[in-house]
Amino acid sequence: MTASWRLESAEQPELIAAFCLSVGRVFAQSGSFVLPERRFIRVLRRSFSVVDVGGAGYARARNVKALVTGGGGFLGKYLVRRLISRGDCVRVFSRRSYSSLQQLGVEQRLGDVRDVAAVSRACEGMDVVFHTAAIAGIWGSWNQFFGINTEGTRNVIAGCREHHVAKLVYTSSPSVTFDAGDQCDVDESIPYASRWLCHYPHSKALAEQSVLQANRVGDLTTCALRPHLIWGPEDPHLVPRLIARARIGRLRRVGERTNRVDMIYVENAAEAHLMAAEALVPDSPVAGRAYFISQGEPVNCWQWINQILTLAGLSPVDKHISFNSAWHLGYCLELGYGLLRLTREPPMTRFLAAQLAKSHLFNIRRARDDFGYAPRVSTEEGMRRLEQWLKVDRSDCSSREE
Ligand SMILES: NC(=O)c1ccc[n+]([C@@H]2O[C@H](COP(=O)([O-])OP(=O)(O)OC[C@H]3O[C@@H](n4cnc5c(N)ncnc54)[C@H](OP(=O)(O)O)[C@@H]3O)[C@@H](O)[C@H]2O)c1
Repeated sequence: MTASWRLESAEQPELIAAFCLSVGRVFAQSGSFVLPERRFIRVLRRSFSVVDVGGAGYARARNVKALVTGGGGFLGKYLVRRLISRGDCVRVFSRRSYSSLQQLGVEQRLGDVRDVAAVSRACEGMDVVFHTAAIAGIWGSWNQFFGINTEGTRNVIAGCREHHVAKLVYTSSPSVTFDAGDQCDVDESIPYASRWLCHYPHSKALAEQSVLQANRVGDLTTCALRPHLIWGPEDPHLVPRLIARARIGRLRRVGERTNRVDMIYVENAAEAHLMAAEALVPDSPVAGRAYFISQGEPVNCWQWINQILTLAGLSPVDKHISFNSAWHLGYCLELGYGLLRLTREPPMTRFLAAQLAKSHLFNIRRARDDFGYAPRVSTEEGMRRLEQWLKVDRSDCSSREE
């Protein structure tokens, strides 16, 4: 049995060199080794960190160098913690520094993804880049969404190429396929949306396409994950917003109460990124592909929202607006806010109306088949952890750490 391996040791480069000269000459092939059997690898591991460039060893590896853009964000933090817990060296790139990351001993590089030179420097020396940094939202200027989400991603691709990073895992969004209708059991064969109701999904779709097209250019392997509705403890987005709106009596059920949605517990989303990275090697099915990821068990949207409100000690949503009314209200507000150049988010937009009233159900078979994704934390357990956070750790449920 033979396997292809790469030796890595930041601390002992001279040992690697000596090893290559004395023993590796027989096996060496420009940095890779063809070894006769796995038993020999155990001997190597005593001195070096050994990374299986064929993919299977990534989870077992130490000293894998991973860059997480947006590593102080909701998903990014969980991803960073998981990488650290298995012994990887993690660098984070974001505009602010995070004390929680500092406590974990994570190297933090401050910068903006729009700054091509700063992004390039952050990619230097990395084996894998997880690009989660983005701005989300239903309102804002095209320049900002395009600059951060699309051009920022293109800068990350350029940085990866410049520094010969092997793998890029991009956090995309299912909204790249959403054009306001119900989505029932859609898989990745669904095309990108043909019209855009706001800038966020459009900018993410352009970014995703750039990432997938970059696969194998300069030997970079890439993939994109599309998590739907990430939730869990420390959520600075969905849960605090629902709670804040409910508290002031401004939460309304949109449409019928029958729409079902897929969503994903934050740790499962982070794990999916790691699993995709493990499997992401040239010529694997993962390379150059996009994947929907979710809990794999859809929920009724409004029952789930009510469940979250109940966990927060609030009453279920009782006010209601039809989808058509919300859609037209959203249209008028978009027009009005646009004309008046208001920068704050309108309380309703067409995108929001459709998101809240329609079903969003995604088939995750491809992620299961290609990189073995399955949610490790059940929805029930996730809700229990969310409740704990809401009741004990974050009773105020404010939205930002730093
Ligand atoms: N949350 C969801 O339900 C969901 C669903 C589908 C897809 N996604 C995708 O998942 C990813 C992570 O989402 P999230 O919910 O974790 O978002 P988040 O909490 O807002 O984290 C995003 C991070 O990106 C960083 N960032 C934003 N603009 C930046 C810039 N110009 N330069 C450098 N860093 C920048 C921010 O850090 P700084 O402010 O410190 O720069 C922030 O911490 C995003 O790509 C999002 O599109 C999220």
